[in-house]
Formats: sequence, structure tokens, C-alpha cells
Amino acid sequence: MRSDTITHPTPAMRKAIFEAEVGDDVYGEDPTVNRLEAMVGEMMGKEAALLTTSGTQSNLIAVLTHTKRGDEIIVGDQAHMLWYEVGSAAALGGVVIRTVPNDSYGRLSLDDINRIIRYEDIHYPKTTLLCLENTHNRCGGTALTPDYIDEVCDLAHTRGLKVYLDGARIFNAAVALGVPACRLAQNVDSVALCLSKGLSAPVGSLLCGSKDFIEQARKFRKMLGGGMRQAGIIAAAGIVALKTMVDRLAEDHSNARRLAEGLSNIEGITLTQDEIGTNIVMFNLSPELSTAEFFEGLERAGVKVGFRDGGPFRAVTHCMVSSSDIDEVLARIEAVCRRLRHRT
Ligand SMILES: Cc1ncc(COP(=O)(O)O)c(C=O)c1O
Repeated sequence: MRSDTITHPTPAMRKAIFEAEVGDDVYGEDPTVNRLEAMVGEMMGKEAALLTTSGTQSNLIAVLTHTKRGDEIIVGDQAHMLWYEVGSAAALGGVVIRTVPNDSYGRLSLDDINRIIRYEDIHYPKTTLLCLENTHNRCGGTALTPDYIDEVCDLAHTRGLKVYLDGARIFNAAVALGVPACRLAQNVDSVALCLSKGLSAPVGSLLCGSKDFIEQARKFRKMLGGGMRQAGIIAAAGIVALKTMVDRLAEDHSNARRLAEGLSNIEGITLTQDEIGTNIVMFNLSPELSTAEFFEGLERAGVKVGFRDGGPFRAVTHCMVSSSDIDEVLARIEAVCRRLRHRT
């Protein structure tokens, strides 16, 4: 339960990979990639889409395409782009990264955004891009609503900025909110989604935007070594993922709620969120229990959860975890906690 990225391709995906029609995608000749890109562009309500190797690559290509070296971009202080992408926007994009605090729902306040955008002055870099994340990973899988995204877009566009949405888990947000994913992307200039997280495909992400944007993005993908030749074998699994794995995300959300409810009844564990929005559950341990021993105890009990930067712990539900697995996980976590409590 460390992450939904550990999910394996389903039998239907493996079959589609085996049977995929392929060509050289750098020449635009892979029919399966072309089909996936057309399908995703339409699904997200954008003119065009581009298959990339990963969410990290989509995020970097979006920055490269929307900005020039020396520009400034705004991201949340808990953004994946800031924490877990090796500083690529700064290192390779040459942009200044400015942060605004994320609230516990993954939102940035409109006042903060408005205040932080630079006005023209000879001393300042030009602020050209604002990035949102939906669902928000470090904020516990919370979903940004269409109304909120629209408000941010209105403000950013009025101040001359483009808006990029890191939608690695946008379908989790769409399913949780009961809206189509294209509604969440309606007013942003570009959006990326991932195939290899809750949708269980082995590889891939798609960056979507206007035709011009994607044409430039395609060149940046090539520059980064992301021109993948017979990528139809990846796209084939992606098509199956989008057709078969989106609606079932509701099951992962219900398992996450079941997990959270169980965890909240275990002495020594506190949830960090009031509500479980999607498939991520974050929790802390009481200070009298040792986090190192708890983590080791879980590993020995065969329960893998995420733990970074001193906490909180993170458990993610996905299609390889059933509701009876949740009961088993809860029993094992409760046993580890009991052992630690008896030792204190
Ligand atoms: C919100 C978000 N964006 C981007 C990424 C990066 O995706 P990838 O691991 O495919 O590079 C992740 C990965 O977990 C993520 O959670």
C-alpha cells in the first residue's frame, strides 16, 4: 500500500500489448499511440494530447513549453513538482520556483496568488505559469473542485499567467466529485494525467492542451529523450486502462474510507485528515510509540506503507488491494501497535 504506482497491468492490458499494432511514433506513424492521443485529447476536452514516459516528464515538458528560462512559476508548497521531481523545473527549465502554501485540501489561496504574482519591474523575473495538482498527493489525495479551479484560472488569466494542472490522479478526483475529468480541466491551459497509477497500466502519462502547445511539447519530449518509437505497446495498455479502470476507482475510495475508519479505532494512531477524499490515507503515530519500530514491525508483518521526511505515514488503495485485504491489513497494524504499546 505504499503507492498506486505498484499496480500491475491487467490480463486485458497484457493481451492488448501483445496484439498492439505499432509503427515509429517519432515519425507519427504508430497507429495505437495516435489512437490513444486522439482519445485522451477528446476525453479531456483539449485539442491535442501527447504520450510521455511519466508524470514527471509531463510536468517538466509543460514547464518548458509554457515558460522561457528566467521566468517564474508558482506552485503549492506541497506540490509533487516541488518535492519529488529532482528540481527539474529549475535545473532543466531554468525557471524560478515560487511557492504559495497549500491548505489541507491542496488549495492555494486566491489572495496569496494575487499577492505573489510579480508586476513589471526591471528587478523582477516575469511570472508566467501557475501549477495546480489534482488530486493532491501530499495533501492526502484531496480533490480540487471545478469551481475552485475556475476561480484560480480566472485570476491567473487576468494577470497574464497560464495555468497547468498536474492531474496524475485526475480520474480519482473526477470519480470522487462525480464530474467528468474534462470539467476539471475546462479552463486550464494544459493538463496531464497518468496511466500508471490507479489506472494500473505499466507506463505512461498524457499531456493535453492546444494544438500549438502540443506541437511544441512534442519537440521538448524529443529533446528529453522521450521519443519512444514503437510506443504502441505502451499506448495499447493505456487504452484498456482508460476504458476499464476509471469507474472502478470508486472501489479504491471506499476501501480507503474503510481503512481510515479502522485506523481511527486503533490506539496510538491518528489520522491527519478529517475526510478521506480518494485513495490516500495519511496517519501519524502517538509520540510515545517509536516510528522506526512501528515501520519495521509493519514490514515484518508484510504491510508496506509509505514513510518519508519524518511522516506522516501514507497508505494508498488500488486495484491490487481488496476490501478483505483491508481487514487483514488493519488486523496486522493493530497487532504491531499493541506490541509497541505493551513495551512502553
Ligand atoms: C501528483 C503527482 N504528479 C506527478 C507524479 C509523477 O509521476 P511519475 O511517477 O509517473 O513520474 C506523481 C507520482 O506519484 C504524483 O503523485
